Amino acid sequence: MNNFTFCNPTQLIFGEGQIACLSKNIPVGAKIMMTYGGGSIKSNGVYDQVIQALKGFDYIEFSGIEPNPHYETLMKAVEIARQEKVDFLLAVGGGSVIDGTKFIASAIHFESDPWNFMLNDTLLAGKSSVAIGTVLTLPATGSEMNCGAVVTREQTKEKMAFHDPANYPRFSILDPKVCFSLPKRQIANGIADTFCHTLEQYLTYPANALVQDRFCEGILLTLKEIAPKILANSQDYDLCANFMFSATMGLNGMISMGLPQDWATHMIGHELTALYGLDHGVTLSIIGPALMQVMRKEKQAKLLQFGERVFGISATQLPSEEERIDRTISALRNFYESLGIKTRLTEYGIGMENFQLIADRFTQRGWNLGESQSVTPDKVLEILKAAL
Ligand code: NZQ
Ligand code: ZN
Repeated sequence: MNNFTFCNPTQLIFGEGQIACLSKNIPVGAKIMMTYGGGSIKSNGVYDQVIQALKGFDYIEFSGIEPNPHYETLMKAVEIARQEKVDFLLAVGGGSVIDGTKFIASAIHFESDPWNFMLNDTLLAGKSSVAIGTVLTLPATGSEMNCGAVVTREQTKEKMAFHDPANYPRFSILDPKVCFSLPKRQIANGIADTFCHTLEQYLTYPANALVQDRFCEGILLTLKEIAPKILANSQDYDLCANFMFSATMGLNGMISMGLPQDWATHMIGHELTALYGLDHGVTLSIIGPALMQVMRKEKQAKLLQFGERVFGISATQLPSEEERIDRTISALRNFYESLGIKTRLTEYGIGMENFQLIADRFTQRGWNLGESQSVTPDKVLEILKAAL
């Protein structure tokens, strides 16, 4: 097991009716900016619950944070927050709203162009960030309980992630009932994203972290079990509660303590969203199986463990390790497809036209990705070709 330090300061407030607890958790006397997206919270009743809980508080609203939040939109919020001397941000939405709000929080007191910290988040060391609370409406990213955020610059079609330890939300309210209004597409994206987060932390090389492996397998098996049921019926509270808990636990640091981590699928996927506008969960479903194929030697031991423990592909059934790995990668692809997500670039009308551009971007950024930094720009090209 690798050395690690762990601290996650976010208070989770979980369960039906918990949005009303907002009033007890927002600092008294704060100047609040409530942030949200394109209006789903107005049609599903979440907005009304939040406004009810904010009675008596001093707040302004900033709406229109789009999926894959844009730097250009967020800078408008930064401007307003500075003018209004906002000192508490309340994000009500999915990963995009929460990530966008983290960007605003870090940008408010940042002296130069905030895009600089998107390119180099060490610039944020020692800087103050405005406190955040969240009301989550879409289980997927884990952003409600981590300090990462991903922002897209429309003008240059770049999608970059940054981490600021000051951006762990003070609290996050998770009422599984918010899932009742989720379209199938977003449920599928959320399941695929959580599955992939877990794999990025689990499917590397053995690290003798037995409990952590079982945590990961617990999430993967839970998602496999609930996926068809929740896609058929998103009005089941217990299914939604388990989906929501899986997503939060998938990326709040719990399962990765002492483990090597990969994240190459995410970084390649971000390029596909930036260039083609594909949903985040879709990009992971396309790149994940292709990456497993290209990196199968390095990941051999964990691929075999994953195949056996999650998909029941055992040595007694199939003695050849290579065949078991083939079968496991097919099972992963079939799982994403069972969510209704197509897993080949060509099925989205995408060919090789931007592959070199993506590899060149990775070269310029000095990125060698993966748990052993062996996903070089050349390997990225191979993975993209395997995803066609
Ligand atoms: O804009 P609104 O009206 O809110 O509608 C949203 C949006 O259209 C809708 N939605 C959200 N909750 C709903 C709902 N519709 C009906 N009922 C509800 N309860 O769903 C659409 C997608 O929302 P979005 O927030 O974009 O989705 P998601 O949570 O998947 O977030 C994706 C973003 O998070 C980043 C991704 O890269 C992407 O930009 N990620 C953030 C991470 C992090 N901070 O740790 C890690 C992830 O790997 C990921 O990269
Ligand atoms: Zn993700």
